Amino acid sequence: MTATRIIDASDENYKEAVKAASELLAAGEVVALPTETVYGLAANAFDAAAVAKVFSVKERPTFDPLIVHVSTRAELSRVAIVPDDIKHTVEKLLNAFWPGPLTLILPKHPDIPDLVTSGLPTVAVRQSANKIFRAVGKELGQPLAAPSANRFGRISPTSAHAVRQELDGRIPLIVDGGACSEGLESTIIHITAGEKRPTITILRPGPVTKEMLQNFGKIERPKKSRDPGAPTAPGMLESHYAPRTPLILLENADDFRPESGKKYGLLSYTGEPGKGYTGLYPWTVVEALSPGNGKLPEAALRLFHVLRKLDDAELDCIFAEPVSEVGLGVAVMDRLRRASKQV
Ligand code: TXA
Ligand code: MG
Repeated sequence: MTATRIIDASDENYKEAVKAASELLAAGEVVALPTETVYGLAANAFDAAAVAKVFSVKERPTFDPLIVHVSTRAELSRVAIVPDDIKHTVEKLLNAFWPGPLTLILPKHPDIPDLVTSGLPTVAVRQSANKIFRAVGKELGQPLAAPSANRFGRISPTSAHAVRQELDGRIPLIVDGGACSEGLESTIIHITAGEKRPTITILRPGPVTKEMLQNFGKIERPKKSRDPGAPTAPGMLESHYAPRTPLILLENADDFRPESGKKYGLLSYTGEPGKGYTGLYPWTVVEALSPGNGKLPEAALRLFHVLRKLDDAELDCIFAEPVSEVGLGVAVMDRLRRASKQV
């Protein structure tokens, strides 16, 4: 058991929080830090022993590789080798989306420990838009390997409080940077050069949507049948982001077969009476992703927070309404399918 300290990193405490976090990281510790997507559990990416702690604290299998976060564009060359045939596309993508929620899979630099990439020849890299996160990386002078700060397979944390629920007593420090501004993990892409246009394969849908990427190349989703050697995101494990309470994504209301005497909760898009599934059943609890009019960015932002609330409500089952699969709705539905183990 380690006593877990939470430092508030708002204005007057900002410097103290950055210093405390970077000192612990320099000493080989792991620290939870805010990013714009979800909170991350960070370690010095070049310190294999610290990276091993990330896996053990999360109970994460070592076959599931981590994302490396750079604090400056220049740091990219210490982490990855950008192939000449996609250099131009990578540059355009970084100009458009970094710092921000876009992770690129690139050939790995030999100095990155194999544990970070689970032995893969590639590394996942991004630059977070969160100033506190980048300041910690700059102060340490090293890139940070950081997966989401949850126990393996569970709901990603979007607040310091949620990190504490997941990792209290396992890590020395949580830097509280307030609520995350995106609420869903970064979009992960792999780029291949084409004859005319490059191909961008979206390995994990996220805040940078297909619509936002299509000017940069031909968009593909990974094929279901996995060719050995084809780019996959191993962490796209089928069951993920799961509450402890069973969750069923009810794509069709006709499939709803309630059992008597059960406490059911509804994860609704708008929560409005007469809309969606609100009138389908006398739900014990209804939580709305985007109360009122229903807006996808708000739904994405609140998804993990609302899932946690429903998980804490001692229900027998959570039923989720589908949202439309356009824009951010693709990432929301991806997470709901994984949470409901229906992949
Ligand atoms: O927004 C995010 O990306 C957050 C914040 C903390 O930055 N991080 C995050 O990390 O979601 P994590 O570990 O929960 O998910 C990283 C995913 C894993 O599912 C893994 O499969 C994929 O990145 N990944 C990492 N390295 C890869 C590689 N070389 N090839 C393919 N996928 C990779
Ligand atoms: Mg994760």
